[in-house]
Amino acid sequence: MVQLDNIHKDFGEVKAVDGVSLNINPGEMVSLLGPSGCGKTTLLRVLSGFLKPSEGNVLMDGKDVTLLPPDKRPTSLVFQNYALFPHMNVFENVAFGLRVKKQALARIKESVAEMLALVGLSGMEQRAIRQLSGGQQQRVALARALVMKPAVLLLDEPLSNLDAKLRVETRIQIRKIQRSVGITSIFVTHDQEEALTISDRIAIMNKGRIMQFGSPEEVYHRPNSSFVADFVGKSNFLSGRYEPQGEGKGIFILSDGQRIPVRGSTAPVGADRMMIRPERMTLSDGTPGSAAGVPGACGVAGTVEYVTFLGEVVYYHLILASGETMMVPIYGKNAEGTGSVAGKHFFIHWEPEAGLVLAG
Ligand SMILES: Nc1ncnc2c1ncn2[C@@H]1O[C@H](COP(=O)(O)OP(=O)(O)OP(=O)(O)O)[C@@H](O)[C@H]1O
Ligand SMILES: [Mg+2]
Repeated sequence: MVQLDNIHKDFGEVKAVDGVSLNINPGEMVSLLGPSGCGKTTLLRVLSGFLKPSEGNVLMDGKDVTLLPPDKRPTSLVFQNYALFPHMNVFENVAFGLRVKKQALARIKESVAEMLALVGLSGMEQRAIRQLSGGQQQRVALARALVMKPAVLLLDEPLSNLDAKLRVETRIQIRKIQRSVGITSIFVTHDQEEALTISDRIAIMNKGRIMQFGSPEEVYHRPNSSFVADFVGKSNFLSGRYEPQGEGKGIFILSDGQRIPVRGSTAPVGADRMMIRPERMTLSDGTPGSAAGVPGACGVAGTVEYVTFLGEVVYYHLILASGETMMVPIYGKNAEGTGSVAGKHFFIHWEPEAGLVLAG
């Protein structure tokens, strides 16, 4: 449906987009996820036609649209700041594009009513924009984009101005609407939780490039680089040296010589980082240095530095003899009364399958 073929966009010296190729299927919801300044908005503007790429082609439905202006493309863009017309009421905001297209009033009324029902704003037609909450304004912007029946919906951080609770509610609503209309969508965000919950696939960007493109499960469980592992979800890293032993087995050797078994890794010889998700770790009582003495032990010794309380979960932050730190979640009853745990020694365990060896 949407095909980006080796897109480059330079602003003078800045390579805002640096060789992006991406194929997006019909009806798919794809997130562009990455840190500030990595080129997400630039890529979205190239897709919508507000920017011409320095190099490369944009195809939609098999047609090359690279040189077409925004109004000749099958796309609608929802801007980060909504960009609603403040002097128009809700109805006129949503109707605007259809009026420009010179549709008959009866048809416009029907379409607007349908869209407002879809986004849960029926009966608000006559409200002024300033009389709406942030979340309601966001939904007007969504209705205004959807009413044009675009083949491709482009959303640039549409939830960034909402409070935490409304963000979660609205992203669920956007996903429901996207599924019910079956519209191909590209959703820009720098919030990894948002990307994980809303997307069929996520493209993780850094410095104008796509680092990995895959389902939420793939990028979370099988990140292809330290960057992706670090950016998506919480992660613990150990540095060392990897020695493959064949059949997906190997040994990761820490700086103090401790050898940690690894299973199911495809990492090359010499890969120098191992990542373990916090939720794969458990703690048992231990003393510093105890791990090194246990042959084949899958874990390390650590000392609690401090504890963070997040309500449903408590994180122990442990420091290792190497100076590296690990965070381990403690759930439920075990998390009670953990305020005085700082300074205690633990042995941190995980299964050999939970360690992911990464290069770079
Ligand atoms: N019109 C422009 N002129 C010069 N440089 C630009 C222009 N637009 C963007 N850039 C630069 O290109 C890079 C990518 O910008 P872009 O807006 O695409 O980032 P982003 O990923 O959307 O970031 P954010 O999450 O902060 O919105 C940045 O370094 C930015 O400063
Ligand atoms: Mg941006």
